[in-house]
Amino acid sequence: MTDTNPTSSPSLENLLHETRSFPPSEEFAAQANATADLYEKASADRLAFWAEQANDLLTWTTPFTETLDWSGAPVARWFADGTLNAAYNAVDRHVEAGLGDRVAIHFEGEPGDTRTVTYADLQREVSRAANALTELGVQTGDRVVIYLPMLVESVVAMLACARVGAPHSVVFGGFSADALRSRIADAEATLVITADGGFRRGAPSALKPAVDEALAPKDGEPATTVRKVLVVRRTEQEVGWVEGRDVWWHEALEAASDQHEPVAVEAEHPLFILYTSGTTGKPKGILHTTGGYLTQAAYTHKNVFDLKPETDVYWCTADVGWVTGHSYVVYGPLVNGATQVLYEGTPDTPHRGRWWELVEKYKVSILYTAPTAIRTCMKWGDDIPGGFDLSSLRVLGSVGEPINPEAWMWYRRVIGGDRTPIVDTWWQTETGAIMISPLPGVTAAKPGSAQVPLPGIVADVVDDEAKPVPDGGGGYLVLSEPWPSMLRGIWGDLERYKETYWSRFEGLYFAGDGAKKDEDGDIWLLGRVDDVMNVSGHRLSTTEIESALVSHEIVAEAAVVGAADDTTGQAVVAFVILRGGHADRAGTPEGSAEVQKELRDHVGKEIGPIAKPKRILVVPELPKTRSGKIMRRLLRDVAENRAVGDATTLADSSVMDLITAGLASPS
Ligand code: WT7
Repeated sequence: MTDTNPTSSPSLENLLHETRSFPPSEEFAAQANATADLYEKASADRLAFWAEQANDLLTWTTPFTETLDWSGAPVARWFADGTLNAAYNAVDRHVEAGLGDRVAIHFEGEPGDTRTVTYADLQREVSRAANALTELGVQTGDRVVIYLPMLVESVVAMLACARVGAPHSVVFGGFSADALRSRIADAEATLVITADGGFRRGAPSALKPAVDEALAPKDGEPATTVRKVLVVRRTEQEVGWVEGRDVWWHEALEAASDQHEPVAVEAEHPLFILYTSGTTGKPKGILHTTGGYLTQAAYTHKNVFDLKPETDVYWCTADVGWVTGHSYVVYGPLVNGATQVLYEGTPDTPHRGRWWELVEKYKVSILYTAPTAIRTCMKWGDDIPGGFDLSSLRVLGSVGEPINPEAWMWYRRVIGGDRTPIVDTWWQTETGAIMISPLPGVTAAKPGSAQVPLPGIVADVVDDEAKPVPDGGGGYLVLSEPWPSMLRGIWGDLERYKETYWSRFEGLYFAGDGAKKDEDGDIWLLGRVDDVMNVSGHRLSTTEIESALVSHEIVAEAAVVGAADDTTGQAVVAFVILRGGHADRAGTPEGSAEVQKELRDHVGKEIGPIAKPKRILVVPELPKTRSGKIMRRLLRDVAENRAVGDATTLADSSVMDLITAGLASPS
């Protein structure tokens, strides 16, 4: 599986020559939620520390008496005899505490329409939606798939599911009908919540047709488990309608009462399933449960972003279709009673200053976004953010991939006015919440490094033999102790869970990332060491895209690599061998353009637009070892325009010459 040396990438090597350091200002440190004693407290008694967080940050219906049960390792049980409801914790208890008038969400639609939602509004709307779900037959434990744009309704839908104890599985709106179909089938969902469409790049973009296609009968596949489809009206596009199955969201909610008793569930009751790409073709349904997940989402949100719910305006730009949207748009901020901005659209619509305009308009004080977005804004130029008042910002966050020091410095200087701490947060869909990050009032931040495991988290960098590397050494990132928001498995596949995360190093969780420790013992993430790519902070599987490509009739074989890209971190580059009879088509520039388009569209249809290869190279052969494994390392050399590395383990060492010669002069 591992053909990448985690420390071999030249661009990442540069990271490690970074010596700048930015300690928090005295003023910031003096007012920070988290101080250095948090580390001491957590290491003195880790479980007592987590129990305290769970009690301080959440309201339990039944208090728990046991913190961690690890007897069924690697499946953890946290706070298992306690009961609680996630939606009650995110909404109702704030209203009960007299904070009903506090704004929960400042919604900004892409066309400029706005909506202000207070916690009291949210309570009524979530209650209506929960009653509507029950009316439509959803029971505690049933799975609900949510396929929506970034709307208030997306948050309401997730919380309504949580309120009745029905695990949600949000599928990112950029995924195709086929991807949606397989996720619905894997989760055996009984209801889908979608919309007619959403606004993207200045135009309505339809969603409902993909749901109709995903639910349509298909030869050789069992009939769908979905009985009802709830449809939010957003764009007012025409939609197909299946009588008896499809129900308008607004009609269902209008008919429902705004009073609803949240269902108290056990702490280990599933809260959601979120599909993510792995090293094989089949996406994994990452399972998260209630009590531990909420504890760590709230704890990290409060301490890493230094949230002051009375005064801060928080904005996380992630879509709810990704885990960042789950933990840092929905659960973390709402459990903490935060006021946040929710924006439907793209950063450059109708102009490239849209984000900064929103920061100015809502006086955003905490901003959490991804390196790819920062690099894009950097390319657009300093004068665009320079045209807005960004002085409200006081903490900046980054997530999704390693942030290069140049982008980090730009973020601090241009967006943060040379003043704000930056928190580079490492975590994964599987970890559920932030694991490694500076604390903004404590850590002297180093541009490009996530640095230190949070209080309560135990991480290390180990070598091939699972031995911790010394300071200055490189290897693999592992997590050595269970943590509250850890995944509880892969939906329906316990074996795959054990195999994927726990088989590489005995007793350690293997994250799939390469990492280094610097001379101070700080951790630097160096990217994936498996067949997983990271494009704009989104995880894509090489194997999944390869399967999509070979499912096209003209493709005989395909190999996909992630090539370094200035903006998106990595870009998908595909090498394909065409089937006999089609090979000639790629010989002319027009033919080649046509083949490329056909294949890119095909991948878009099979997986979604985000998975479309940036480049497709038609080649006569692929480099394989004697055991038939494709040597992606060599293809990466080609894709990144480098001299091809050591090819001696190839079954046929002349293959690389054939490939590079063919690319230099298309015949
Ligand atoms: C992978 C997880 C966590 C939400 C977004 C992505 C990479 C994530 C960082 C960071 C270096 C990072 C890792 C990780 N990653 N954050 N701050 N520095 N790498 O979630 O899709 O589950 O992907 O993203 O490679 O394994 P995901």
